Amino acid sequence: MVTKWDKQRSEWYYRAVEQSNYPERAVKTLLPLLRKCDSVIDIGAGCGALSIPIARLVKRVTATEPSKWMYALLLRSAKEAGIKNITAYNSGWLKTGVKGGLKSKLKPHDMVLCANLPPDIVCNVNFLSYISKVSGKYVVYLHGAGEWNRFYYDDLYPLLLGRKYIHDGDYLKTYSFLHGQGIFANTKIFEFYLDQPFKDFDDAMDFWRHRLKARLTKRKEKILSDFLKKKLISTRNRSRGAGMTGQSNTLTAPFGLRRAAIMWWKSC
Ligand SMILES: C[S@@+](CC[C@H](N)C(=O)[O-])C[C@H]1O[C@@H](n2cnc3c(N)ncnc32)[C@H](O)[C@@H]1O
Repeated sequence: MVTKWDKQRSEWYYRAVEQSNYPERAVKTLLPLLRKCDSVIDIGAGCGALSIPIARLVKRVTATEPSKWMYALLLRSAKEAGIKNITAYNSGWLKTGVKGGLKSKLKPHDMVLCANLPPDIVCNVNFLSYISKVSGKYVVYLHGAGEWNRFYYDDLYPLLLGRKYIHDGDYLKTYSFLHGQGIFANTKIFEFYLDQPFKDFDDAMDFWRHRLKARLTKRKEKILSDFLKKKLISTRNRSRGAGMTGQSNTLTAPFGLRRAAIMWWKSC
């Protein structure tokens, strides 16, 4: 399956999640629902940011993730955490169902969780109908709330690409889609930090080159480098996995406080 979550992008996300309180805050917000569930499907589970803490609270988790790099990080994280009740598939949503490494159709679970999935998937009527069928109790959407200066794009787009960055829109867009389908989702907002750690300054430069998908001239490279020198902060890192062990000094891009909405509804 084609996905933009390649090796580099997946590892950057994994390292950001490792240092973040996003999993803890999201799961805390979901706790009243999770207490009523034995089984959860996490669609687009990524590196397991939510699957892993949720697996500690319910009997079983089925995680589906189309990127082979994210999928590998998910398997490794679960193994390192000693989690044995996650069944993971290297698969994702494609037109009519979750496809890929699945041997048979997904069976119904109490909760279906769709966290930070691309808007064209969560706002797709076929997807909605599919997840409603495999959800026994609750469907949960998690989506960013409010605007944040996404990866400093508000500053960097004009400086490097000569245009304004157009924001994607937040959870209200998804909420409005659901409303149009006759779903009046319960909504709860939570706050978290999801800063981006880097191994070194070159790693940070690579992150923005990769994200901006632009070949920068020498002059633009200098502009980016000068910008990042002012933004990045030195941090002490305690991480395991993704090629890093023990403590080390790293650089971090602090993106500030962020918010997300948990939208949930009963599936029957
Ligand atoms: C921002 S990450 C979020 C990962 C995880 N849900 C979380 O909240 O940390 C988005 C994930 O959606 C996955 N994704 C993209 N297209 C997908 C599809 N068609 N079906 C399922 N997952 C998809 C990506 O591979 C990626 O892992």
